[in-house]
Amino acid sequence: MAKASGLGRLAGRAAIITGGARGIGKAICEAYAAEGAAVWVADLHGGEAEDLAEALRETGAEAGGGYCDVRSFDNVRDVVDAAAEAFGHLDILVGNAATLTPAATIEDLEESDWTQALAVNLTGAFHLCKHGLPHLKRNGGGSIILTASQMGRVGNAGSAAYCTTKGALIQLAKTMALDHADDNIRVNTLSPGGTATERLFGRYGSPEGAEKGWGQTMHPLGRLGRPEEMAKGAVFLASEESSFMTGADLLLDGGYSAR
Ligand SMILES: NC(=O)c1ccc[n+]([C@@H]2O[C@H](COP(=O)([O-])OP(=O)(O)OC[C@H]3O[C@@H](n4cnc5c(N)ncnc54)[C@H](O)[C@@H]3O)[C@@H](O)[C@H]2O)c1
Repeated sequence: MAKASGLGRLAGRAAIITGGARGIGKAICEAYAAEGAAVWVADLHGGEAEDLAEALRETGAEAGGGYCDVRSFDNVRDVVDAAAEAFGHLDILVGNAATLTPAATIEDLEESDWTQALAVNLTGAFHLCKHGLPHLKRNGGGSIILTASQMGRVGNAGSAAYCTTKGALIQLAKTMALDHADDNIRVNTLSPGGTATERLFGRYGSPEGAEKGWGQTMHPLGRLGRPEEMAKGAVFLASEESSFMTGADLLLDGGYSAR
C-alpha cells in the first residue's frame, strides 16, 4: 500500500466511503489515503472495514472505520457523525455500496430482491447525502461522488433493478448538483464498466471467467477495468482538478457503452 502523502491532492480533506471494505470502494480508500485524505471506511463487513482502517493508519494516514448498513437512516447518521467528529470535519462523501441482485426479468424477480436493490444502491446514497450534507455545508463546501455504472446509461438484459438504481443515481447527482452549487458542493457520479472485483468473480465463477465472459467480450479495450483505475477517477472527482465539474457522470467503461 502506498505511503500517505501530506502533500497529496487531497491533503487536509476528510472523506467517508460506503462499501469501502472491498473492491472499488477499498481501492478508493487506499487512493484517498495515499493522496493525504483522512479516510473513514464504512461497510456492512465491519471487521474488514476496521482492518482496512488499521492498514491505512500503518501507511501514515489518518483513518477510521467500521460497521455501516446504508439501508438504515439512523445507522448512517450515526456513522457519518462519528466520522466528522473523529476528523473534525468532513469534505468528501463517496456513496459506493451496492448489493448483488440476481439476474432475472421483472416477471421472475422476487419483490424482496427489487426492494433490496433500491434500499442499498439508491436509498443508501440518499441516507449518506442526507446526513453528510450538513457537515459539508458547515465546512464551506465539498465533493459528493456516487458510484453509478455504465448500466445507468444502457440497458442490460436481466438487470432491470440494478440498471434502474444506477440510472437513478445519475439523476440524483444531477439534481443535487443544482440544489447545492450555491453551497460550494459539487455532486458527480463515477460510472465504472466491468471491473475486476468479487462482484464479477462470483457471477462468472472466477477472475479468469469474469475476464473471458465479460471483460474481453463486452469491452472494446478487451479486458475488465481494475479497481485502481476507478479510484483514479474518484480522486479526480474529489480533488480541485475537477473544480468546474458538477452534475456530470465520469464514465470509465473501457468503451462498453460506445457501441
Ligand atoms: N465491479 C463492477 O464490474 C462494477 C461495474 C459498474 C459499477 N460498479 C459499482 O461499483 C461499486 C462497487 O462495486 P464492487 O465491484 O467493488 O462491489 P463489491 O460487491 O466488491 O463491494 C461492494 C461493497 O459494498 C458493501 N455493501 C453491500 N451492502 C452494503 C450495505 N447495505 N451497507 C454498507 N455496505 C454494503 C459490501 O460489503 C462490499 O464491501 C458498486 O456501486 C457497483 O454497483 C461495479
